Amino acid sequence: MDIDAQKRQAAKRALDYVRPGMKLGLGTGSTAEKFVDLLGAKVSEGLDVVCVPTSEATRLQAEGLGIPLTTLEQDPELDLTIDGADELDERLQLIKGGGGAHMREKIAAAASHRMVVIADESKRVKILGRFPLPVEIAAFGWRATLSKVSDCAAMNGARGPVTLRGSQADPFVTDNGNYILDCAFGEIEDAAKVAMELSLIPGVVEHGLFIGLAHAAVVAGASGVDIMGETP
Ligand code: A5P
Repeated sequence: MDIDAQKRQAAKRALDYVRPGMKLGLGTGSTAEKFVDLLGAKVSEGLDVVCVPTSEATRLQAEGLGIPLTTLEQDPELDLTIDGADELDERLQLIKGGGGAHMREKIAAAASHRMVVIADESKRVKILGRFPLPVEIAAFGWRATLSKVSDCAAMNGARGPVTLRGSQADPFVTDNGNYILDCAFGEIEDAAKVAMELSLIPGVVEHGLFIGLAHAAVVAGASGVDIMGETP
């Protein structure tokens, strides 16, 4: 089974966590996109849910499928968020933000009673950090923030550089109007410590480490689907 089919299988299995009447957070990325497609089909068959999208891309997709939407301002408590991840470890710690949406994704996950990750097995790692850690920063003073983030990464054993996503002439800009730094750690020995230290740097809006937020992961591989953590 190819990776795309694995993503779809994980997304399909995650529908088991959804109950009628739920308020859902909808993640961002290619795996979450498959979940939103499948959810849209259920909604058209009569499933009653209301959803908060975590990016403009997901909002447009959900709107197109006729999925009822709300906002976290209107509904600050969600039952469940379903989202992809760039990496996950055995403790359900995650790296997210490959698509630059991790700030809204983290707010939605933290506002949810449950967060369920959907992924193909290539996302599973022993130690987080092979995927460069995304850090959303304010555009104001970005060079100064990059310097502090680089120091933090170096102090925590990063093996590669911290780079601005896009180029200086044409930086990647998030839905929130901010920039992204990608931090090539290689391995993050103590993810909770790095998460805390990054959060203390002025100019850092949100980093892509999700610690203690995911309750379950549905991971699809060549030999089937594995549920980590809480079952539906
Ligand atoms: C969006 O910013 C990310 O957090 C995505 O959820 C994550 O990158 C997973 O994306 P894919 O499902 O496309 O791999």
